[in-house]
Amino acid sequence: MQLGPYTLPNALFVAPMAGVTDRPFRKLCKRLGAGYAVSEMVTSRPDLQDSLKTSRRADHAGEPGPIAVQIAGTDAAMMADAARYNIERGAQIIDINMGCPAKKVCNQWAGSALMQDETLAIGIVEAVVAAAAPHGVPVTLKMRTGWCAEVRNAPAIALAAEAAGVQMLTVHGRTREQGYQGLAEHETVAHIKSRVKIPVVANGDISSPQQARDVLQRTGADAIMIGRAAQGRPWIFREIGHFLATGEVLPPPDLAEVKAWLLDHLEDHYNLYGEYTGVRSARKHLGWYALALPLPLGAAAVFRSRINTLTTAPAQLDCVRESLDAWASALEEKSTREDHWKLAA
Ligand SMILES: Cc1cc2nc3c(=O)[nH]c(=O)nc-3n(C[C@H](O)[C@H](O)[C@H](O)COP(=O)(O)O)c2cc1C
Repeated sequence: MQLGPYTLPNALFVAPMAGVTDRPFRKLCKRLGAGYAVSEMVTSRPDLQDSLKTSRRADHAGEPGPIAVQIAGTDAAMMADAARYNIERGAQIIDINMGCPAKKVCNQWAGSALMQDETLAIGIVEAVVAAAAPHGVPVTLKMRTGWCAEVRNAPAIALAAEAAGVQMLTVHGRTREQGYQGLAEHETVAHIKSRVKIPVVANGDISSPQQARDVLQRTGADAIMIGRAAQGRPWIFREIGHFLATGEVLPPPDLAEVKAWLLDHLEDHYNLYGEYTGVRSARKHLGWYALALPLPLGAAAVFRSRINTLTTAPAQLDCVRESLDAWASALEEKSTREDHWKLAA
């Protein structure tokens, strides 16, 4: 897939998730088969640009390109400045957030709240495109299907955004009103895909290789974007890639392999956040990993409560090493026992 001057290696994208898809996690997803990732949203408010949180989000050192940065805000001039600010700091693609339903964003009339006011929404798109174009930086837009069930205006916004110069659209198949309730629908994505010429990305509730194939087939979308299903399971991208290429389902990854990925993830995480914050913010990732792995009964809960008591990087790393080794031997024993019974039968 082509996005401006960039040829993406595949059509499997990591969704931006604030507090989750930071640079270390995006790098791991890309290593495990994702073709593209968008940063967590960065505020357009200039007074917050130098905050630790925002400057960490604007640091892309070592991430394989293209570097896509998502900006969120309510004011066209501020959004244009935010685009320029991030381009100066290495953004190669600017994504506009019109998808986030969080109160913090919506109360300021940003995120998916922008879909309520099409004139404002397109004004922002035009300003950001005008700011990015002199640098040759493509602008993309991520939105929901509309504000509420009665106002599913994503197709209208898609057409206007395309006319304003947006080069790719991502659609999460829920309205703003739905939050994360109910199931995502992809008919609106299919409809948008049939109306615009720019690439369209389908997003929402894709959590298996089979669903990925079905959504691609049903919508005709150019790519799919995966969010929550990648939490604790970044190898989902290689599973989907393999399934789309061969029709075969990959077995779950080997725990020795997972151990190496987790330890690399943690080292990268501590490097970005420092030990104090890093150890604490890594806990949620470790909890998700434990839930995603095929572990002995009760092992995930024991692991999570142990991880939550540890406060240093060496202790956290040791706990991960020991736990993964113990789970690997438990699984090996179980399969040896099963093989033994199979042979005996
Ligand atoms: C914890 C969390 C944080 C999110 N943060 C963002 C964000 O910063 N920007 C954005 O456009 N969407 C954000 N989203 C929405 C996701 O990008 C995605 O559209 C949504 O989760 C649906 O996809 P999924 O079903 O694959 O998770 C967030 C979602 C979650 C769960």
